[in-house]
Amino acid sequence: MFLRCLLALLALTSLSFSTNPGVQVRLTKKGLEYGRQLGMASIQQKLKTITIPDMSGKVKLRPVGKVKYSLTNMRVKSVGLPQSQLSLVPGTGLKLGIGNAFLSMNGNWRVKFHRILRTHGSFDLNVKGLTIATSIAVKSDETGRPDVSTVSCAATVGSAHIKFHGGGSWLYNLFSKFIDKALRKALEKKLCPLVAGAVSDLNPELKTLNVLAKVDKFAEIEYSMVSSPTVSASSLDLGLKGEFYNIGKHQEPPFPPPSFSLPPQVNEMLYIGVSTFTANSATFVYNKAGVLSMNITDDMVPRISPIRLDTNTFGAIVPQIAERFPGLKMKLLLNAPKDPVISFKPNNAMVQATAAMTAYAIQPNATLTPLFVLNLDISVSARVFVSGMKIAGAITLNKMGLTLGTSNVGDFKVGYLDSILKIVLKLVVIPQLNIRLAEGYPLPTLGKMKLANTQLQVLQDYMLIGTDVQFTP
Ligand SMILES: *[C@@H]1O[C@H](CO)[C@@H](O)[C@H](O)[C@H]1NC(C)=O
Ligand SMILES: *[C@@H]1O[C@H](CO)[C@@H](O)[C@H](O)[C@H]1NC(C)=O
Repeated sequence: MFLRCLLALLALTSLSFSTNPGVQVRLTKKGLEYGRQLGMASIQQKLKTITIPDMSGKVKLRPVGKVKYSLTNMRVKSVGLPQSQLSLVPGTGLKLGIGNAFLSMNGNWRVKFHRILRTHGSFDLNVKGLTIATSIAVKSDETGRPDVSTVSCAATVGSAHIKFHGGGSWLYNLFSKFIDKALRKALEKKLCPLVAGAVSDLNPELKTLNVLAKVDKFAEIEYSMVSSPTVSASSLDLGLKGEFYNIGKHQEPPFPPPSFSLPPQVNEMLYIGVSTFTANSATFVYNKAGVLSMNITDDMVPRISPIRLDTNTFGAIVPQIAERFPGLKMKLLLNAPKDPVISFKPNNAMVQATAAMTAYAIQPNATLTPLFVLNLDISVSARVFVSGMKIAGAITLNKMGLTLGTSNVGDFKVGYLDSILKIVLKLVVIPQLNIRLAEGYPLPTLGKMKLANTQLQVLQDYMLIGTDVQFTP
């Protein structure tokens, strides 16, 4: 029984881990260093707002006897964080170390002794040798967004020195050692919760990961994490689903995401690998939405075109068209019976499409008379680039092959239509697709993230975007 449960469990876990990510995101040490800078700025701000509760008590001091004291209004004046380190702990998460930190505080003191003698003044407290060591776990939450938490923390305050100003400070100097210690303890208690707070403050930012990014009225992209982040000695890697879906209708394409791994590049803060799976899930979705079907009419052909979509043009090549349908406009219906296939090879993004084109004559009473059906094998090259937080593209026609499907206007040499159809593709179809491609597709993003020094390379089976990031608060 136990064994069976265990096997079932193993099968389940291997199943959930077998989902390859369509998109991989890698945070390098350079990215981590930027994260450290942002994190330290946040911790510095938090340290400035630290408050130590008022302290009061009684001590017996020789030779004066019982002394009642209080310390109030303790505020941080300045904070120094000269040393800090955010490092990767393979398999686990991150480690944040802060060393040699110092802060200075001031406050008011008041004492009472021998019932009647009172005196008060201000004091300065200088704290040195502050160290904080924190382990941070990075996980995936139930929505597939990253989540950070502090798993352990230790804080120590090296030394505290108090200096009293005002009358009677001789008295305090008698028991400053005792005060030093009490203040040090009070401060130590504050440090770990403060750092844990700074760490968990990251979560609202991480929750802004666009796990379901709307593209347009047809499609959205899912960017949830498919497994927990993996931490190696050189990077923190996230595997994201990276899959296009029809809005509201999540149907899986008939091909699974292949596994791919990012190259060991380290010059940029962030690397985003977008696989052919992601690209092909887009063609699957758009074809399903009917977006790859298009009616081409003469008014869509630019004025400058050497050809018009009418029976004169086609009649010059197919005599029956000129004879039976003289002087009519024509319409071409283009659709993709098979989903186009996008492939990535080093420095080469290509789309291979099979299209069917039905040509109609438009009768004066608007009836469409089908003339012939052609099968087109189209190969286009794509230029892909990053624009803002989007990935965009532009395609150009590479090659086109023609075969005749059916004809109602007799047999003819399809090769003669080659140049006409190439003009239609170049002047009408491709510009239309390029308008859409130029609008781009959202990349995974957090909050008000901006990219800088961004480069995109097309590699075998994936595109690699290397970039620095900037967060504006
Ligand atoms: C093309 O035109 C035909 C006939 O007018 C219409 O039924 C069809 O829906 C149109 N297709 C597209 C993709 O616009
Ligand atoms: C439209 O015109 C064509 C050609 O003249 C004819 O064959 C067809 O019956 C007409 N259709 C209608 C609906 O009038």
